[in-house]
Amino acid sequence: MKAFIVDRYGSSDSVRAGDMPVPQLRDDDVLVQIHAASINPLDLKIRDGKLKLVLPYRLPIILGNDLDGVVVGVGAGVRRFKAGDEVYARVDTDRIGAFAELISIREDSVAIKPKTLNMEEAASIPLVGLTAWQTLIERANLKAGQKVLIHAGSGGVGTIAIQLAKHLGATVATTTSTANVDWVKALGADVVIDYRKDDFEAVLRDYDVVLDTLGGDVLEKSPRVLKPGGTLVSISGPPDPDFAKDMGLPWVLRQVMRLLSHRIRKSAKRHRVSYSFLFMKPSGDQLREIGALIDSGAIRPVVDRVFPFGSTKEALAYVEQGRAKGKVIVKVR
Ligand SMILES: NC(=O)c1ccc[n+]([C@@H]2O[C@H](COP(=O)([O-])OP(=O)(O)OC[C@H]3O[C@@H](n4cnc5c(N)ncnc54)[C@H](OP(=O)(O)O)[C@@H]3O)[C@@H](O)[C@H]2O)c1
Repeated sequence: MKAFIVDRYGSSDSVRAGDMPVPQLRDDDVLVQIHAASINPLDLKIRDGKLKLVLPYRLPIILGNDLDGVVVGVGAGVRRFKAGDEVYARVDTDRIGAFAELISIREDSVAIKPKTLNMEEAASIPLVGLTAWQTLIERANLKAGQKVLIHAGSGGVGTIAIQLAKHLGATVATTTSTANVDWVKALGADVVIDYRKDDFEAVLRDYDVVLDTLGGDVLEKSPRVLKPGGTLVSISGPPDPDFAKDMGLPWVLRQVMRLLSHRIRKSAKRHRVSYSFLFMKPSGDQLREIGALIDSGAIRPVVDRVFPFGSTKEALAYVEQGRAKGKVIVKVR
């Protein structure tokens, strides 16, 4: 089958189109003929080898974490899916490969795709939808009436997180550049900070939750806008010791992550707020709940551009520029 492959870690030159064997179907797997895949910054980090200590893949690997398609085979133990089902998924973390014609995925990671979306739209949802769900609902326990700051509201995660937070009844502030201010307001943001003109920490006070998607300076300033007892969740790092434990990483890496996150954990403590790093996980159950919100009209997909399968490297380069509004899709079939 045709696929986009990484033979050795590097930059854009290390991705090539080629042929790979059809993935093995285990008892609890569904085999999916991929129709569309979405690009995530995660694909770039994997390509460049930035995550090889945390996600130690054996090369060559097929890139790609996010997809939808049609079930064309099921393992002996599969109960929930049958051939012909239209499904979507954030693929299993240890068996990625969405930039390909076929993939095997554990039944538990898959859900029936939202009925109201076409294939390109549905492929835009799984990874960012699950990230928004797991940060705002599972980790931060965001409730109606609370105030949440979502950094980078025009990005893949931001566009869905704004809509989910509004659905939960929260007041939503977000950061974006001048050109996107009205656009993120239309998505539902109540307060929009143009980061080219204003500093969010000078404007916002007494927030309950911050979702950091940017790291660096933005993360460092974020504890200051939280009220005591508030929750700071970062998906851009630095990773903390609990994350290392959760991933089953060796003791040495846990100590490395303790050091890397020391500064932000100390700052969080000083401001009497909590800090944690979250790495999202696949979940068919949560995708079913997100799908219901989409079909009810509470959340809509935001697709910036669709590239043909043969232009997957161009799609990766487009996301690498860091200016995408919502999601970038590769149409595989
Ligand atoms: N840990 C996890 O489980 C997890 C899950 C998902 C994503 N992530 C990470 O989270 C980050 C965001 O992911 P994504 O998919 O949302 O990325 P993305 O879609 O590529 O983000 C692009 C957006 O970021 C905005 N942006 C860039 N710099 C900004 C700034 N200083 N302030 C506000 N907005 C800014 C851009 O808007 P402008 O053009 O207006 O600047 C653009 O719309 C990535 O690093 C990704 O790897 C982690």
